[in-house]
Amino acid sequence: MRLPGSPRSPRRSSSTLTSPSRSAALAGLTARLAEVGGLDAAALDALEIAVLGRKQGELTHLLKAVATLPLDERREAGAELNRLKLAFEAAVADRRNSLAVAARATSSVGVDLSMPGREAWTGTRHPVTIVIDEIVEIFRSLGFTVALGPEAETEELNFLALNFPPDHPAMDMHDTLYLDAGGRPTAPGERLLLRTHTSPVQIRVMREGPPPYRVVIPGTVYRNDPFDPSHAPAFAQIEGLAIDEGVSFADLKAVLTHFARRFLGANTPVRFRPSFFPFTEPSAEMDVGCRFCGGAGCPPCKGTGWMEILGCGMVHEQVLRNCGVDPERWTGYAFGMGPQRIAMQRFGVPDIRLLYGGDMRFLSQFGRVSG
Ligand code: PHE
Repeated sequence: MRLPGSPRSPRRSSSTLTSPSRSAALAGLTARLAEVGGLDAAALDALEIAVLGRKQGELTHLLKAVATLPLDERREAGAELNRLKLAFEAAVADRRNSLAVAARATSSVGVDLSMPGREAWTGTRHPVTIVIDEIVEIFRSLGFTVALGPEAETEELNFLALNFPPDHPAMDMHDTLYLDAGGRPTAPGERLLLRTHTSPVQIRVMREGPPPYRVVIPGTVYRNDPFDPSHAPAFAQIEGLAIDEGVSFADLKAVLTHFARRFLGANTPVRFRPSFFPFTEPSAEMDVGCRFCGGAGCPPCKGTGWMEILGCGMVHEQVLRNCGVDPERWTGYAFGMGPQRIAMQRFGVPDIRLLYGGDMRFLSQFGRVSG
Protein backbone atom coordinates (compact mmCIF):
# COMPACT_ATOMS: atom_id res chain seq x y z
CA MET A 1 0.00 0.00 0.00
CA ARG A 2 1.06 3.60 -0.37
CA LEU A 3 2.47 5.42 2.59
CA PRO A 4 1.33 8.83 3.82
CA GLY A 5 3.46 11.82 2.85
CA SER A 6 5.04 14.39 5.06
CA PRO A 7 2.91 15.46 8.03
CA ARG A 8 3.65 19.04 7.03
CA SER A 9 1.47 18.68 3.94
CA PRO A 10 -1.65 17.09 5.42
CA ARG A 11 -3.91 17.92 2.52
CA ARG A 12 -1.86 16.11 -0.05
CA SER A 13 -0.93 13.15 2.05
CA SER A 14 -4.53 12.55 3.11
CA SER A 15 -5.15 11.35 -0.40
CA THR A 16 -2.88 8.35 0.31
CA LEU A 17 -5.36 7.04 2.88
CA THR A 18 -8.54 7.58 1.00
CA SER A 19 -11.67 5.82 2.17
CA PRO A 20 -11.64 3.21 -0.61
CA SER A 21 -7.99 2.26 -0.12
CA ARG A 22 -8.50 2.13 3.64
CA SER A 23 -11.48 -0.23 3.27
CA ALA A 24 -9.47 -2.52 1.04
CA ALA A 25 -6.64 -2.62 3.57
CA LEU A 26 -9.09 -3.31 6.38
CA ALA A 27 -10.75 -6.13 4.47
CA GLY A 28 -7.35 -7.74 3.86
CA LEU A 29 -6.40 -7.47 7.51
CA THR A 30 -9.76 -8.83 8.71
CA ALA A 31 -9.27 -11.88 6.50
CA ARG A 32 -5.81 -12.48 7.97
CA LEU A 33 -7.24 -12.08 11.47
CA ALA A 34 -9.61 -14.97 10.79
CA GLU A 35 -6.66 -17.22 9.98
CA VAL A 36 -4.67 -16.60 13.18
CA GLY A 37 -6.26 -19.56 14.99
CA GLY A 38 -4.72 -22.03 12.52
CA LEU A 39 -1.14 -20.74 12.35
CA ASP A 40 1.92 -22.53 13.69
CA ALA A 41 4.43 -20.73 15.89
CA ALA A 42 6.69 -19.51 13.04
CA ALA A 43 3.78 -18.24 10.92
CA LEU A 44 2.37 -16.53 13.97
CA ASP A 45 5.64 -14.66 14.58
CA ALA A 46 5.83 -13.63 10.93
CA LEU A 47 2.24 -12.41 10.91
CA GLU A 48 2.75 -10.43 14.08
CA ILE A 49 5.71 -8.60 12.54
CA ALA A 50 3.90 -7.98 9.26
CA VAL A 51 0.78 -6.58 10.91
CA LEU A 52 1.71 -5.18 14.30
CA GLY A 53 5.50 -4.67 13.89
CA ARG A 54 6.70 -1.30 15.08
CA LYS A 55 8.55 -0.55 11.85
CA GLN A 56 6.92 -2.46 9.00
CA GLY A 57 3.59 -3.42 10.52
CA GLU A 58 0.74 -2.70 8.12
CA LEU A 59 -1.64 -1.80 10.87
CA THR A 60 1.00 0.35 12.56
CA HIS A 61 1.40 2.37 9.35
CA LEU A 62 -2.32 2.76 8.90
CA LEU A 63 -2.65 4.01 12.46
CA LYS A 64 0.15 6.54 11.96
CA ALA A 65 -1.55 7.79 8.81
CA VAL A 66 -4.71 8.62 10.76
CA ALA A 67 -3.05 11.82 11.89
CA THR A 68 -2.91 12.97 8.27
CA LEU A 69 -6.62 12.56 7.63
CA PRO A 70 -8.98 15.52 7.55
CA LEU A 71 -10.32 16.16 11.05
CA ASP A 72 -13.82 14.86 10.35
CA GLU A 73 -12.54 11.43 9.28
CA ARG A 74 -9.93 10.90 11.96
CA ARG A 75 -12.15 9.77 14.79
CA GLU A 76 -13.97 7.09 12.84
CA ALA A 77 -10.88 5.77 11.04
CA GLY A 78 -8.85 5.77 14.26
CA ALA A 79 -11.52 3.86 16.21
CA GLU A 80 -11.88 1.27 13.49
CA LEU A 81 -8.14 0.65 13.20
CA ASN A 82 -7.71 0.47 16.98
CA ARG A 83 -10.46 -2.15 17.29
CA LEU A 84 -8.70 -4.20 14.66
CA LYS A 85 -5.34 -3.79 16.41
CA LEU A 86 -6.77 -4.98 19.74
CA ALA A 87 -8.46 -7.93 18.02
CA PHE A 88 -5.14 -8.89 16.39
CA GLU A 89 -3.22 -8.64 19.63
CA ALA A 90 -5.79 -10.77 21.47
CA ALA A 91 -5.90 -13.39 18.71
CA VAL A 92 -2.10 -13.66 18.55
CA ALA A 93 -1.79 -13.99 22.35
CA ASP A 94 -4.54 -16.59 22.40
CA ARG A 95 -3.00 -18.68 19.69
CA ARG A 96 0.42 -18.47 21.28
CA ASN A 97 -1.06 -19.68 24.54
CA SER A 98 -2.78 -22.70 23.00
CA LEU A 99 0.40 -23.62 21.11
CA ALA A 100 2.34 -23.51 24.41
CA VAL A 101 -0.25 -25.65 26.22
CA ALA A 102 -0.19 -28.20 23.43
CA ALA A 103 3.62 -28.23 23.42
CA ARG A 104 3.77 -28.81 27.18
CA ALA A 105 1.30 -31.68 26.91
CA THR A 106 3.31 -33.53 24.29
CA SER A 107 6.92 -32.97 25.31
CA SER A 108 9.08 -32.92 28.43
CA VAL A 109 10.60 -29.56 27.55
CA GLY A 110 10.44 -27.39 30.67
CA VAL A 111 10.41 -30.37 33.03
CA ASP A 112 13.75 -30.89 34.76
CA LEU A 113 13.85 -34.64 35.26
CA SER A 114 17.08 -34.38 37.28
CA MET A 115 15.40 -32.38 40.08
CA PRO A 116 15.13 -34.26 43.39
CA GLY A 117 11.65 -35.43 44.30
CA ARG A 118 9.61 -33.62 46.92
CA GLU A 119 10.06 -35.42 50.21
CA ALA A 120 7.02 -35.97 52.41
CA TRP A 121 7.51 -34.05 55.67
CA THR A 122 7.38 -36.59 58.47
CA GLY A 123 8.51 -34.57 61.50
CA THR A 124 10.47 -35.88 64.47
CA ARG A 125 9.69 -36.82 68.04
CA HIS A 126 10.58 -34.12 70.54
CA PRO A 127 13.78 -35.01 72.46
CA VAL A 128 11.82 -35.06 75.74
CA THR A 129 9.27 -37.44 74.17
CA ILE A 130 12.10 -39.68 72.97
CA VAL A 131 13.46 -39.84 76.52
CA ILE A 132 10.03 -40.48 78.09
CA ASP A 133 9.22 -43.24 75.58
CA GLU A 134 12.54 -44.95 76.19
CA ILE A 135 12.33 -44.76 79.99
CA VAL A 136 8.76 -46.07 79.97
CA GLU A 137 9.85 -48.90 77.66
CA ILE A 138 12.64 -49.97 80.02
CA PHE A 139 10.24 -50.12 82.98
CA ARG A 140 7.62 -51.90 80.89
CA SER A 141 10.16 -54.64 80.22
CA LEU A 142 10.58 -54.98 84.02
CA GLY A 143 6.84 -55.59 84.52
CA PHE A 144 5.63 -52.02 85.18
CA THR A 145 2.47 -50.65 83.54
CA VAL A 146 1.65 -47.00 82.79
CA ALA A 147 -0.78 -44.97 84.94
CA LEU A 148 -1.87 -41.36 84.41
CA GLY A 149 -3.49 -38.68 86.57
CA PRO A 150 -4.92 -35.16 86.18
CA GLU A 151 -2.77 -32.03 86.06
CA ALA A 152 -5.27 -30.08 88.18
CA GLU A 153 -5.06 -31.87 91.50
CA THR A 154 -6.42 -31.43 95.02
CA GLU A 155 -4.27 -30.21 97.87
CA GLU A 156 -5.20 -33.45 99.64
CA LEU A 157 -3.67 -35.71 96.98
CA ASN A 158 -0.76 -33.48 96.00
CA PHE A 159 0.35 -32.88 99.61
CA LEU A 160 -1.66 -34.18 102.58
CA ALA A 161 -2.11 -37.84 101.63
CA LEU A 162 1.60 -37.85 100.80
CA ASN A 163 2.37 -37.00 104.41
CA PHE A 164 3.29 -33.34 103.90
CA PRO A 165 2.56 -31.52 107.19
CA PRO A 166 -0.07 -28.77 106.63
CA ASP A 167 2.52 -26.06 107.22
CA HIS A 168 5.04 -27.45 104.72
CA PRO A 169 6.56 -24.62 102.64
CA ALA A 170 5.81 -26.45 99.36
CA MET A 171 2.12 -25.80 100.09
CA ASP A 172 2.77 -22.07 100.15
CA MET A 173 1.25 -19.93 97.39
CA HIS A 174 4.78 -18.79 96.78
CA ASP A 175 5.88 -22.24 95.56
CA THR A 176 2.69 -23.66 94.10
CA LEU A 177 0.23 -22.50 91.44
CA TYR A 178 -3.27 -22.63 92.97
CA LEU A 179 -6.39 -22.49 90.83
CA ASP A 180 -9.12 -19.96 91.42
CA ALA A 181 -12.22 -21.79 92.72
CA GLY A 182 -14.42 -18.99 91.33
CA GLY A 183 -15.21 -17.73 94.84
CA ARG A 184 -16.70 -21.08 95.95
CA PRO A 185 -15.72 -22.03 99.52
CA THR A 186 -13.43 -25.05 99.59
CA ALA A 187 -13.01 -27.48 102.46
CA PRO A 188 -9.44 -28.00 103.76
CA GLY A 189 -7.49 -30.11 101.31
CA GLU A 190 -9.98 -29.53 98.50
CA ARG A 191 -8.29 -26.48 97.08
CA LEU A 192 -7.25 -27.15 93.48
CA LEU A 193 -3.76 -26.56 92.23
CA LEU A 194 -1.56 -27.47 89.28
CA ARG A 195 0.19 -30.57 90.60
CA THR A 196 3.77 -29.87 91.67
CA HIS A 197 4.86 -33.48 91.09
CA THR A 198 3.43 -36.75 89.75
CA SER A 199 3.46 -38.33 93.24
CA PRO A 200 -0.31 -37.74 93.84
CA VAL A 201 -0.91 -40.38 91.17
CA GLN A 202 0.69 -42.89 93.59
CA ILE A 203 -2.25 -42.18 95.91
CA ARG A 204 -4.79 -42.53 93.09
CA VAL A 205 -3.31 -45.88 92.02
CA MET A 206 -3.25 -47.28 95.58
CA ARG A 207 -6.78 -46.11 96.36
CA GLU A 208 -8.12 -47.70 93.22
CA GLY A 209 -7.49 -51.32 94.17
CA PRO A 210 -5.42 -53.70 96.31
CA PRO A 211 -1.63 -54.30 95.93
CA PRO A 212 0.64 -55.38 94.34
CA TYR A 213 1.42 -52.28 92.25
CA ARG A 214 4.12 -51.72 89.66
CA VAL A 215 3.46 -48.54 87.70
CA VAL A 216 5.29 -45.70 85.99
CA ILE A 217 3.50 -42.37 85.68
CA PRO A 218 4.66 -39.87 83.05
CA GLY A 219 3.11 -36.40 83.15
CA THR A 220 3.51 -32.63 83.30
CA VAL A 221 3.96 -30.81 86.61
CA TYR A 222 3.98 -27.12 87.51
CA ARG A 223 5.93 -25.00 89.95
CA ASN A 224 6.17 -21.31 90.63
CA ASP A 225 9.71 -21.31 89.22
CA PRO A 226 11.51 -18.86 86.92
CA PHE A 227 12.19 -19.69 83.28
CA ASP A 228 16.00 -19.74 83.18
CA PRO A 229 18.72 -22.02 81.73
CA SER A 230 18.05 -24.75 84.32
CA HIS A 231 14.42 -24.14 85.44
CA ALA A 232 10.99 -24.04 83.86
CA PRO A 233 7.58 -23.45 85.47
CA ALA A 234 6.14 -26.51 83.67
CA PHE A 235 8.11 -29.69 83.09
CA ALA A 236 7.76 -33.44 82.78
CA GLN A 237 8.21 -36.08 85.45
CA ILE A 238 8.15 -39.84 85.45
CA GLU A 239 7.03 -41.30 88.74
CA GLY A 240 7.50 -44.94 89.68
CA LEU A 241 5.77 -47.03 92.34
CA ALA A 242 6.43 -50.68 93.22
CA ILE A 243 4.63 -52.27 96.20
CA ASP A 244 4.55 -55.98 96.91
CA GLU A 245 5.29 -58.44 99.68
CA GLY A 246 8.92 -58.35 100.78
CA VAL A 247 10.11 -55.45 98.59
CA SER A 248 13.20 -53.86 100.18
CA PHE A 249 15.67 -51.03 99.59
CA ALA A 250 17.87 -53.62 97.84
CA ASP A 251 15.15 -53.96 95.17
CA LEU A 252 15.03 -50.18 94.78
CA LYS A 253 18.80 -50.02 94.26
CA ALA A 254 18.85 -52.99 91.90
CA VAL A 255 16.00 -51.77 89.69
CA LEU A 256 17.15 -48.14 89.49
CA THR A 257 20.78 -49.11 88.84
CA HIS A 258 19.64 -51.49 86.11
CA PHE A 259 17.53 -48.69 84.63
CA ALA A 260 20.41 -46.16 84.66
CA ARG A 261 22.79 -48.59 82.97
CA ARG A 262 20.31 -49.55 80.29
CA PHE A 263 19.46 -45.96 79.62
CA LEU A 264 22.92 -44.34 79.86
CA GLY A 265 25.33 -47.21 79.19
CA ALA A 266 26.44 -50.41 80.90
CA ASN A 267 29.42 -48.88 82.70
CA THR A 268 27.62 -45.83 84.08
CA PRO A 269 28.71 -45.20 87.69
CA VAL A 270 25.77 -44.85 90.08
CA ARG A 271 25.52 -43.66 93.70
CA PHE A 272 22.72 -43.12 96.22
CA ARG A 273 22.85 -40.17 98.64
CA PRO A 274 20.61 -39.82 101.69
CA SER A 275 17.86 -37.26 101.19
CA PHE A 276 14.42 -36.33 102.47
CA PHE A 277 10.89 -36.49 101.10
CA PRO A 278 7.84 -36.54 103.41
CA PHE A 279 6.37 -39.55 101.56
CA THR A 280 9.42 -41.87 101.62
CA GLU A 281 11.52 -43.23 104.48
CA PRO A 282 14.40 -43.67 104.01
CA SER A 283 14.82 -41.30 101.06
CA ALA A 284 17.66 -40.92 98.59
CA GLU A 285 18.84 -39.10 95.50
CA MET A 286 20.40 -41.16 92.77
CA ASP A 287 23.41 -39.68 90.93
CA VAL A 288 25.08 -40.96 87.80
CA GLY A 289 28.65 -40.28 86.69
CA CYS A 290 28.82 -37.07 84.63
CA ARG A 291 28.70 -37.91 80.94
CA PHE A 292 30.51 -34.74 79.94
CA CYS A 293 33.71 -35.13 81.97
CA GLY A 294 33.69 -38.82 82.93
CA GLY A 295 33.92 -37.91 86.59
CA ALA A 296 36.77 -35.39 86.50
CA GLY A 297 34.50 -32.42 87.22
CA CYS A 298 33.20 -29.81 84.75
CA PRO A 299 30.72 -26.91 84.68
CA PRO A 300 27.59 -29.03 83.85
CA CYS A 301 28.23 -31.24 86.95
CA LYS A 302 29.42 -28.22 88.98
CA GLY A 303 32.83 -29.83 89.43
CA THR A 304 31.50 -32.87 91.32
CA GLY A 305 31.77 -35.49 88.57
CA TRP A 306 28.18 -36.57 89.38
CA MET A 307 24.74 -35.61 88.14
CA GLU A 308 21.55 -36.08 90.08
CA ILE A 309 18.90 -37.81 87.99
CA LEU A 310 16.15 -38.85 90.41
CA GLY A 311 14.68 -38.82 93.90
CA CYS A 312 13.55 -42.07 95.49
CA GLY A 313 12.86 -43.95 98.72
CA MET A 314 10.80 -46.60 100.48
CA VAL A 315 7.14 -45.59 100.54
CA HIS A 316 6.36 -44.13 103.99
CA GLU A 317 4.15 -46.28 106.23
CA GLN A 318 1.79 -43.37 106.76
CA VAL A 319 1.27 -43.01 102.99
CA LEU A 320 0.39 -46.72 102.75
CA ARG A 321 -2.06 -46.34 105.65
CA ASN A 322 -3.58 -43.23 104.00
CA CYS A 323 -4.44 -45.48 101.05
CA GLY A 324 -5.76 -48.43 103.08
CA VAL A 325 -2.66 -50.56 102.40
CA ASP A 326 -1.38 -52.57 105.41
CA PRO A 327 2.32 -51.65 105.95
CA GLU A 328 2.87 -54.84 107.98
CA ARG A 329 2.24 -56.89 104.87
CA TRP A 330 3.12 -54.62 101.93
CA THR A 331 6.27 -52.63 101.35
CA GLY A 332 7.80 -50.94 98.36
CA TYR A 333 9.61 -48.04 96.81
CA ALA A 334 8.84 -44.96 94.74
CA PHE A 335 10.95 -42.71 92.56
CA GLY A 336 10.58 -39.58 90.49
CA MET A 337 12.75 -38.23 87.68
CA GLY A 338 12.74 -35.26 85.30
CA PRO A 339 12.91 -36.16 81.60
CA GLN A 340 13.97 -32.60 80.60
CA ARG A 341 17.05 -32.83 82.83
CA ILE A 342 17.76 -36.31 81.54
CA ALA A 343 17.34 -35.18 77.90
CA MET A 344 19.76 -32.31 78.56
CA GLN A 345 22.40 -34.75 79.79
CA ARG A 346 21.73 -37.35 77.17
CA PHE A 347 21.84 -34.94 74.23
CA GLY A 348 24.19 -32.32 75.68
CA VAL A 349 21.59 -29.50 75.67
CA PRO A 350 23.04 -26.52 77.60
CA ASP A 351 19.81 -24.54 78.22
CA ILE A 352 16.45 -26.08 79.21
CA ARG A 353 14.61 -23.33 77.31
CA LEU A 354 15.71 -24.87 73.99
CA LEU A 355 13.38 -27.76 74.83
CA TYR A 356 10.41 -25.38 74.98
CA GLY A 357 10.99 -23.45 71.74
CA GLY A 358 9.67 -24.58 68.39
CA ASP A 359 12.95 -24.03 66.55
CA MET A 360 13.06 -26.71 63.87
CA ARG A 361 16.83 -26.29 63.42
CA PHE A 362 17.20 -27.53 66.98
CA LEU A 363 14.37 -30.07 67.06
CA SER A 364 15.13 -31.77 63.74
CA GLN A 365 18.50 -32.97 65.08
CA PHE A 366 16.81 -35.66 67.16
CA GLY A 367 15.73 -39.08 65.90
CA ARG A 368 13.40 -39.10 62.95
CA VAL A 369 10.23 -41.08 63.44
CA SER A 370 10.30 -42.34 59.87
CA GLY A 371 11.14 -41.34 56.35
N1 PHE B 1 8.03 -36.13 93.95
C1 PHE B 1 9.42 -35.88 94.16
C2 PHE B 1 9.81 -34.55 93.49
O1 PHE B 1 9.07 -34.04 92.71
C3 PHE B 1 10.28 -36.96 93.56
C4 PHE B 1 10.09 -38.28 94.25
C5 PHE B 1 9.14 -39.17 93.81
C6 PHE B 1 10.89 -38.63 95.34
C7 PHE B 1 8.97 -40.39 94.44
C8 PHE B 1 10.72 -39.82 95.99
C9 PHE B 1 9.79 -40.71 95.54
O2 PHE B 1 10.85 -33.98 93.76
